[in-house]
Amino acid sequence: MIEHRNPHESVMQQATAVAHPNIALVKYWGKADAAQNLPAVGSLSITVEGLATTTTVRFDTALDADRFRLAGREEPAMARRVSACLDELRRRAGSSLHAAVESGNDFPTAAGLASSASGFAALVVAADAALGAGLPRPELAELARRASGSAPRSLYGGFVELALADSGRRTECRQLLEPAAWPLAVAVAVTARGPKAVGSTAGMLASERSSPYYAAWVASSPADLAAARAAVAARDFEALAAVSEASCLAMHGVMLATRPGLVYWNGTTVACIHLVRGLRAAGVPVFFTIDAGPQLKAVCPPAALARVRHELAAVPGVERVLEGRLGEGARVVAG
Ligand code: DP6
Repeated sequence: MIEHRNPHESVMQQATAVAHPNIALVKYWGKADAAQNLPAVGSLSITVEGLATTTTVRFDTALDADRFRLAGREEPAMARRVSACLDELRRRAGSSLHAAVESGNDFPTAAGLASSASGFAALVVAADAALGAGLPRPELAELARRASGSAPRSLYGGFVELALADSGRRTECRQLLEPAAWPLAVAVAVTARGPKAVGSTAGMLASERSSPYYAAWVASSPADLAAARAAVAARDFEALAAVSEASCLAMHGVMLATRPGLVYWNGTTVACIHLVRGLRAAGVPVFFTIDAGPQLKAVCPPAALARVRHELAAVPGVERVLEGRLGEGARVVAG
């Protein structure tokens, strides 16, 4: 935390944090309580370094309202969510100062690359440091979860589980394995630019209201989580591949059966699914996962990354392939 006083006696407290997106292998889709943003299912993810959000939070007595800019541009819808998140942090830290928040991503936003997850993880870590609040990480995870259900997972590195606790009345986020313990790599095939048509929040509420498969999805999640947890503990790639693809396809089944149907894939996404399955059948260790957008994420050991990257880049319609490795959780980098 840096405290500055200018000649007009305004007081500024500032810090900068970096967070990486995470990719769910066992998916979160659905809310048990929309007001508290309590997920209906637990989830399990990997935190991916190589892609990053950097956020600077400056609390300033000279401000009469919060300000939020993403890549230098005002974002009113996101600003309201940022303010609500800061309100909760201010309440716990006993502060009434408004903040100016500057955030930037080095990867495409709102296209199924989990920018809200890294965004809110970086926000709570930077704001906590700026205020000198020193809230424990589980408390920061709860604040991030209220802002976006996938965000607490980016507070931790490596393999991370967001588990339901107390019969689903709260969540607990924890690291299952450090990045170095099983250093997998990720290739992201970008198949379209621009924001998705239906955001995750609206999409999952629609699925809950109208998808005939929603209840079966919620009921099947604990078994997928248990299988994924066991696969991670045993570093069993084949088992993790099987449960990850199953969870992804089941979530997309729920989405497709929503009325009106949520079709997040394009033709290139489907071509990439077949490519990844073909590679695996040919002995290349790789599996896919896809979120609420058209990008396909392929997960593989680092030794297979060059091959996977090369093959994905050759699929007609793939605009580019981003790559990443398992990385650390959100952290303060300045201030
Ligand atoms: C498909 O965390 O964006 O990426 O809690 O409404 O902000 P809100 O939703 P969000 O949903 C992510 C959904 C997903 C699957 C996942 O990351 O687990």
